[in-house]
Amino acid sequence: MTTFIAVLYIISFALFIYGLMGLTGPRTAVRGNWIAAVGMGIAVIATLLTPGMSNWLLIALGVAIGVVVGVPSARKVKMTAMPQMVALFNGVGGGAVALIAWVEFRTTEGYAHEPAYVAIASLFAAIVGSVSFWGSNIAFGKLQELISGRPITLGKLQQPVNALVLIAAIVFAVVIASGGDAELLMIGLLVAAGVLGVVVVLPIGGADMPVVISLLNALTGLSAAAMGLALDNTALIVAGMIVGASGSILTNLMAKAMNRSIPAIVAGGFGGTTSVASGGSGEVRPVRSTSASDTAIQMAYANKVVVVPGYGMAVAQAQHVVREMAKLLEAKGITVEYAIHPVAGRMPGHMNVLLAEADVPYEQLKEMDEINSEFAQTDVALVIGANDVTNPAAETDPGSPIYGMPILKVNHSRSVIVLKRSMSSGFAGIDNELFYDAKTSMLFGDAKSSVGEIVEELKAL
Ligand code: TAP
Repeated sequence: MTTFIAVLYIISFALFIYGLMGLTGPRTAVRGNWIAAVGMGIAVIATLLTPGMSNWLLIALGVAIGVVVGVPSARKVKMTAMPQMVALFNGVGGGAVALIAWVEFRTTEGYAHEPAYVAIASLFAAIVGSVSFWGSNIAFGKLQELISGRPITLGKLQQPVNALVLIAAIVFAVVIASGGDAELLMIGLLVAAGVLGVVVVLPIGGADMPVVISLLNALTGLSAAAMGLALDNTALIVAGMIVGASGSILTNLMAKAMNRSIPAIVAGGFGGTTSVASGGSGEVRPVRSTSASDTAIQMAYANKVVVVPGYGMAVAQAQHVVREMAKLLEAKGITVEYAIHPVAGRMPGHMNVLLAEADVPYEQLKEMDEINSEFAQTDVALVIGANDVTNPAAETDPGSPIYGMPILKVNHSRSVIVLKRSMSSGFAGIDNELFYDAKTSMLFGDAKSSVGEIVEELKAL
C-alpha cells in the first residue's frame, strides 16, 4: 500500500507541474488548471488511503463544506474580484497549516519526544500559517472594501508593536521547542503570529495589496512545505514548495513591474486612495473632450490603432465590444494591436485573460517592451480604462510615487484618445499628465457604452 500511495503522489506532482506549465498562457490556462486539479484530486485520494486514516464522517463533512462554499463562490466571482478571492482561498490554506500544527502539538503532547527538526518545522509552519491566514483576511477585507484600502498605521508605535508581537511568537516557539507542553503556549504562539499578520498588512495601501497577496501565498506554500517535513508527507512538501517558489517568483515580477521593492511594500503607506486629478496645486486644468463619432472618424482614417486596455475595461466588461470594434476597423484595412502592461488591471495576466475571453487573436497582443517602440508609428492610441500604466510621470517626475515604473509610452503616438468616466485617478491615486497632453482627447463615459457607440458610428461610416 505504501508503494501504491507513493506512486499516486508522484503522478499528482507530475500533474501539478504539467498543469502549472499550462498556466503560462491564456490559451492553455484553463486546461492547465484542470490538470492540476486532477493532480490534487489524486493527492487527496492517496492521503485518504494512508493506513490509520479514521474519522471518515468528519472528513466527509469537511469535504462537503468545502464544496458547498468553494464551488459556487468560485463560479460566481467577478473577474475584478479575483484578487480578494485568491486572498481568501490562500488564507484558508495558511489557516489549515496552522491548525494541523496545533493538532500535531496535541497528538504528540508537545515536541519533547520528537526530533528537533519536527519541532522546528512544525513551529515555523504554525507561525507562518497563522500570519498568512490573518494577513490574507485583512487583504481580503481591504480589497472587498470591508475595511479602508488606505494605510492604517499605529504611527510611531507601528515598528515597536510589529517587533513585539514577532518576538512574542518566537519566544513561545523557543519555549515549546525546549520542552514546554502546555497548550496555552501553542495558543499564545498562534495568537501572536495572527496579530503579526494583522499589524503587518493593515498599514499597506490598497495599491500594493495584490503583491502582498502573492507574498502571503508564497508564505502559505512555505508553511505547508515545512509541515510536510514535520509530518513526513511528501505531497505537502512538493505542493508547498511549488506554491512557495511560484508565489515568490510572481511577487518579484509584480514588484519589478511596479518598480517597488518588496521591503518598501511591506513597510506600507503607498496607495489606496482615489483622489480627483487636479494638477497637484488644486487648480482644475483644462482637458480636451471628444465624442464617439469623432473618435470613430479619427480611427477610420488611421493606418494603425493600438488599443491600451486597463482596469476600467475589466470593470466595464468592454472586451467583447472592443473586439467587435477591432473587427470593423480591420475590415477597413486598419492594423489593430493591443498593448499589454504587466500590471494593467488588478492581477497578473488580467488583460490577457479578458481579451482571450473575447477571442482576440493572441498575435495581436503585444507586451510592453515590444509595443513601446511601435507607438511612434501609431496613429491612434485608444486607452480604454487604463490610467497609471500610461502615466508619463513615471518617466519624468522624480517626485512621483510611481517614478521608475515602466509604462506604456502612449504619448509617443500621433494622437491619444482616453476612455474613462471622469478625471478620477487610478489605483495609485495620482494625477495623469497624459490627460493634459495636447495630443490627448478624453471620451468620457462607461467604457462599454462608449465603445458600443463607436461601433455604431463605424458601422454607419
Ligand atoms: P488604474 O490606474 O487603476 O486606472 C483604471 C481607470 O479605469 C480609472 O482611472 C477609472 O477612471 C477607469 N474606469 C473604471 N471603471 C471604468 C468604466 N466602467 N469605464 C471606463 N473607465 C473606467 O488601471 P491600470 O492603468 O490598469 O493600472 C493598474 C494599477 O493597479 C496600477 O497602479 C498597478 O500598479 C496596480 N496594480 C496592479 C497589479 C496587477 S498584477 N495587475 C497588482 C498590483 C497593483 P474613472 O473612474 O474616471 O472611470
